[in-house]
Parts: sequence; structure tokens; C-alpha cells
Amino acid sequence: MHVCGGVFLLMLGSAVTHTLDSASLDSAWESWKTTHMREYNGQGEDAVRRTIWEKNMQIIESHNQEYELGIHTYELGMNQFGDMTVEEMAEKLMGLQMPMENDPMNTYVPGSLEKLPKSIDYRKLGYVTPVRNQGSCGSCWAFSSVGALEGQLMKTTGQLVELSPQNLVDCVTENDGCGGGYMTNAFNYVRNNRGIDSEESYPYVGMDQQCAYNKSGKAAECRGFKEVQKGSEKALMSAIAKVGPVSVGIDAMQSTFQFYKSGVYYDPNCDKENINHAVLAVGYGVTPKGKKYWIVKNRYVT
Ligand SMILES: *[C@@H]1O[C@H](CO)[C@@H](O)[C@H](O)[C@H]1NC(C)=O
Repeated sequence: MHVCGGVFLLMLGSAVTHTLDSASLDSAWESWKTTHMREYNGQGEDAVRRTIWEKNMQIIESHNQEYELGIHTYELGMNQFGDMTVEEMAEKLMGLQMPMENDPMNTYVPGSLEKLPKSIDYRKLGYVTPVRNQGSCGSCWAFSSVGALEGQLMKTTGQLVELSPQNLVDCVTENDGCGGGYMTNAFNYVRNNRGIDSEESYPYVGMDQQCAYNKSGKAAECRGFKEVQKGSEKALMSAIAKVGPVSVGIDAMQSTFQFYKSGVYYDPNCDKENINHAVLAVGYGVTPKGKKYWIVKNRYVT
């Protein structure tokens, strides 16, 4: 599998200077399908998927040409989402259901004169568990929630323990499991339930199941939570520095996000009125060129 991936990436590299001819496109397509274990229902579906994949290849190629010229601060790369449109990504994989407004009674208020560090990276402080694959399930809200709780568990006990997103997918009745949800409902569940199981005792399957919480697998509790004022980057910076990793919502319905590979992501088309994907903010910083960024934990991509 890895050898195929390597060969494929080499072809992408050579495609930067001249567009791929149809023979090498054919073999790149075959190679991509092998790498990502795709099998389609006949020629018809293969053709439909190939068209989407070719469009995505073009987006990636022309973005990376512009990146070489210094127009962008990040690179794109082909990955397992190559045969999907952004709309399909949203339908299958996102699933953040945002309320319109913050709860005004439960808002995080930063101190008025507080001094914040210029940068902080909770990965380096041992607060962040490995990046996971959420499968074909709109459980981003559960992974995001678990990430915030894992950070607080580390902060209060000094132990980094993977908590169970499946526990939340199955048991948070206010949410819709793999169909989507919101993080505050998950935090309320853990608080009222007086616990959340560890990943080890309640492993991830990426499907809706019956709730099977078991007290004997409990790894953490939640005494309470606050909401960061929507749109306030200052408040978010303070919450990250003073409290720990924070569950956040973003607009992930951009091809640039679908194929993000490395660097500081920025897309002017990003729509703050269309927040559709939950992730975990685990830090922030400034590049040597003075560009400010957030460090965000998302899902595993191959
Ligand atoms: C909970 O877990 C314990 C220990 O693994 C087990 O003995 C018990 O049967 C479980 N309870 C339920 C209701 O599954």
C-alpha cells in the first residue's frame, strides 16, 4: 500500500510543470483506487468518480503551482477524499449542528488585563492524544468534545488517557450520533451521567449503536464548561492559554480544506455563517514572517 502511495506522489510532483497526459492520468487513477481500496459498481460509477477525482487533481495542481510562486502559505495533496465533492464530504463526514447563538448565561469571560503567551502548543505539553480516523460517520462533534475533556483530564490529573467518542455517539440523546451533533450536548451528557468511558473500555466503531456506557470503564467526569463568544478570536486565545484545548467549529466545506496537506491554512472563501465541522484548537502561534495561526487537531488523512 505504501509503495503505491509513494509512486503516486512522485507523479504528482512531476505534474507541477506540465499537465498530466491521458496515459499517465489513467495510471494515476488506477494507482489512487488501489491505494484507497476503491471498488465501484461498474463502468458508470467509475466514470463519475474519475471525473470528480480529475477535477480535484486540477484544483490541487493549480493551487500547488501558485504555492510554488509564493501566493499561498500552504500546500495541498491528493488523499482518500479524492473521489468526493465538498458536498459529499459535508454530508458524510462533517455533522456539526451549531446553534444560532451562544448561551449568554454560560459565556467564558477573559480577564480584562490578562497577559497571554505569544504562543502555546498543547501537543508539546502532552495534552493531546493521537489523531484518529473517524471513518464514515459524522462524529466530529464527539471527537472534538473528547479532545477538550482529555485536555482537562491531563491538566487536573497529569494523566493523558484516550476517552471514548463512541460513548458520546451512542448515548448523547440530544445529538444525532453519526448524523451530527453539538459539543455542549456532549459535555452536558458527561456531567449528568457523572462520567465518560475510556476509549479502551468503549472502543470506536464509527456507527450508531445502543448506548452501552459502563461505570466500571469510567475515565473522567465533567463538572462544567463555558462557551467562547462566537467569532471572538481574543476570547478563544485567552481560553486556550488559560484553560486548555478548546472545542471549536469551522467551515470545512472548501476544496482547499479537503486536500490540505501542510502549512498555514487560509481560504478567503471560508464562510463564518456556514460552520459545519467540529475540531479541537490545541494552541496558537506566529510564523517567523509574523503570520498568526491556530493549531487545530482534525482527523487522520491517508
Ligand atoms: C461492566 O463492566 C464490567 C467489567 O468489565 C463487567 O463485569 C460488567 O458485566 C459490565 N456491565 C454491563 C452492564 O455490561
